[in-house]
Amino acid sequence: MATRIVQFDNVRKHYQMGPVTVEALRGVSFGIEAGDYISIMGPSGCGKSTLLNLLGCLDRPTSGRFLLGEEDVSQMDDDALSAVRGARLGFVFQSYNLIQQLSVVENIEVPLYYQGRPEDESRERARELAARVGLESRMEHKPFELSGGQQQRVAIARALVNDPLVILADEPTGNLDSTSGAEILNLFDDLNQQGKTLIMVTHDTSVAKHSRRSIRLRDGHLESDVRH
Ligand SMILES: Nc1ncnc2c1ncn2[C@@H]1O[C@H](COP(=O)(O)OP(=O)(O)OP(=O)(O)O)[C@@H](O)[C@H]1O
Ligand SMILES: [Mg+2]
Repeated sequence: MATRIVQFDNVRKHYQMGPVTVEALRGVSFGIEAGDYISIMGPSGCGKSTLLNLLGCLDRPTSGRFLLGEEDVSQMDDDALSAVRGARLGFVFQSYNLIQQLSVVENIEVPLYYQGRPEDESRERARELAARVGLESRMEHKPFELSGGQQQRVAIARALVNDPLVILADEPTGNLDSTSGAEILNLFDDLNQQGKTLIMVTHDTSVAKHSRRSIRLRDGHLESDVRH
């Protein structure tokens, strides 16, 4: 029996816009087991990014319960949430979000730096991960000296560096041509086969085919949850 690492119980997220309340998530419940690979799909505005932001502890639900690992993170304050993010989560964004002044290996080290790990150990770990994503010959390059696909590999290595419980990706191939996009998806497939838990937002059904399970949202509700 796989370990449950995410539990959402009747999670709602409302945004207050002056007098108007936007109900972005209207009571969403599901669980995720370690080792799963999930795509979150649905039309624009249905709540995908809102859901990913909650999963990523970047924001709190308006109501409902969210367990990450053993911990109830639903009502944590900002400092506690940020500690959870640093220790337990890895992020991959559509636009890579690398630091332009830092080299590949330095970018990968950033999360360890924030955790106050010893420098030698961090450098060694970052070099290992750069090699794992196929960038052994690009360690000292800056992001602007890399292709989009290579930059996304750096972001993936950075997301892996603190051995997170889950990796969250928002349209990870959205800015890439189809060849580089396919390479990134192959890398995700490898990581999942090695036991990593992945959650990815995508609007592209051919991208979602790589996942094992698709959660589809519509208008803030969970419309379907299909394993394939
Ligand atoms: N910070 C915010 N303040 C107010 N309303 C918001 C905020 N973020 C999202 N919303 C609203 O919540 C709803 C869900 O937005 P969300 O960004 O989660 O959709 P999405 O599924 O990610 O869409 P897309 O595919 O276009 O990225 C939308 O109606 C949006 O306008
Ligand atoms: Mg979105």
